[in-house]
Amino acid sequence: MKLSLDKRGLTEVRTDALIVGRHAGQAKLPPALQAVDAKLGGLLSKVMTAEKFEGKPGQISQVHTEGRLPAARVILTGLGPQKSDAEAVRRAASAAARRARDLGAKTAAGYFAADGLSPRARSQAAVEGAVLGTYRFDKYLKEKSPKSLDAFAVVEPERRSQAAAEAGVEAGEVWSVATCVTRDLVNEPANVVTPSYLAKRAQEIARAGRLGLKVLERAECEKLGMGAYIGVAQGSLEPPKFIHLTYRPKGRARRRVAVVGKGITFDSGGLDLKPADGMYRMKNDMSGAAAVLGLFSALPKLGLPVEVHGLIAATENMPSGTAQRPGDIVKAMNGLTIEIGNTDAEGRLTLADALVYADKEIEPDEMVELSTLTGAIVVALGLGLTGVFVTDDGLASRVLGAADSAGERMWRMPLHDEYKDGFKSDIADLNNISSQRGGGAIVAGLFMRDFTGGRPWAHLDIAGTAFTERELPLGPKGGTGVGVRTLLAYLHALAGRR
Ligand code: BES
Ligand code: MN
Ligand code: ZN
Repeated sequence: MKLSLDKRGLTEVRTDALIVGRHAGQAKLPPALQAVDAKLGGLLSKVMTAEKFEGKPGQISQVHTEGRLPAARVILTGLGPQKSDAEAVRRAASAAARRARDLGAKTAAGYFAADGLSPRARSQAAVEGAVLGTYRFDKYLKEKSPKSLDAFAVVEPERRSQAAAEAGVEAGEVWSVATCVTRDLVNEPANVVTPSYLAKRAQEIARAGRLGLKVLERAECEKLGMGAYIGVAQGSLEPPKFIHLTYRPKGRARRRVAVVGKGITFDSGGLDLKPADGMYRMKNDMSGAAAVLGLFSALPKLGLPVEVHGLIAATENMPSGTAQRPGDIVKAMNGLTIEIGNTDAEGRLTLADALVYADKEIEPDEMVELSTLTGAIVVALGLGLTGVFVTDDGLASRVLGAADSAGERMWRMPLHDEYKDGFKSDIADLNNISSQRGGGAIVAGLFMRDFTGGRPWAHLDIAGTAFTERELPLGPKGGTGVGVRTLLAYLHALAGRR
């Protein structure tokens, strides 16, 4: 989709669909809309009354202009309460862009005079909404819909706001396209997205953005002592790939962070095989890794003064004659031995070694890790919230603040120390599952904390939010790309930029 800023007034914009955001509880039309209404002989206000358009979130109304304006139609989209946030603009833009597309429009232009938002934030949100809302994954369909929106412009007639709006459009494009990179990776099936495929995508992203890249093969990981990670990989015919991407700013870096993503390209459960229902969607068990790759596709375009390392311990989790057995003992890179209580608790094993690698080889100021880690987080928080486990309050407020500004719903969870007793083993330092009931997401978090070397660490359990079985306000069924925009907002905050 081609994205741009349109500096003309609403009555001059030439487009297939002029999208206008409206707040709830506004009795009178604002001046900009009065001019549009006048050109249409009052049709806009008539339709609003007839259709009871009140500006509620998700509400849409439309009128054809029949040549009375350069725009072919006007689509009104509800912004909700007077003081709206960026998420209201994203959702309103998404709903309207979808409607425009489904009506056959090829081009659309959006005007959102949202109170309480800067022109930059407003433009960025509008672009994110339009791109994310009209995202589709149709490459495997013979019959693709011919309806697609090819161009979206943000309308900003006010001179003094135009430079900021321009910057917002650019940021919105980078952030939403990165999110779509992640969605594509998650939506691809596991017979395509293997560990080797992730390494290949990492290489493409590194080349395009002049990033550093190291891919460690099985033998090198063994040499480093990554027994926990390699134990998970030993049952699969697909070779594991440990991916390390590096973004270094041109000048001095203000901070160094490691971003770690769970990269299980298919989770069958291993010898502790999952039942069919639980296994079906397990191609999405690399959603954390996909978020890391999406992030790195954006970083070169942003020039942030932060050094960022992306880590993915990619592998399948498969049952076979060479697979890890329940009861096996493996040794992680920090020397801790782990008894395998259940081969389906594989994510924490691969992440344990990725975290030790980060601690030892990168020595970051802080680490953020994203993983589709536990079914238990879905029991705790449902499908609308990412669980956030953090060992440092400053990092917690940065991550949660970033999530809030990105419109990704997250909730802090406790790392309750007493539950550590549950994963004691009689014959190894740890067991990878707990013998106690409940709190599975917390237990998984506590387990991984032992591999962070005491560095500030945030663990985002995205098992409930990385993939959706129903359409959402900002996207269709499938991969959501959760985490990418939160990570971008977090890195901007770290860099002291908005
Ligand atoms: N990848 C799964 C977690 C998951 C579940 C992700 C549902 C997305 C949707 C993880 O590897 C897993 O199997 N976890 C087990 C842990 C258990 C064996 C302690 C689980 O949650 O059941
Ligand atoms: Mn599993
Ligand atoms: Zn898994």
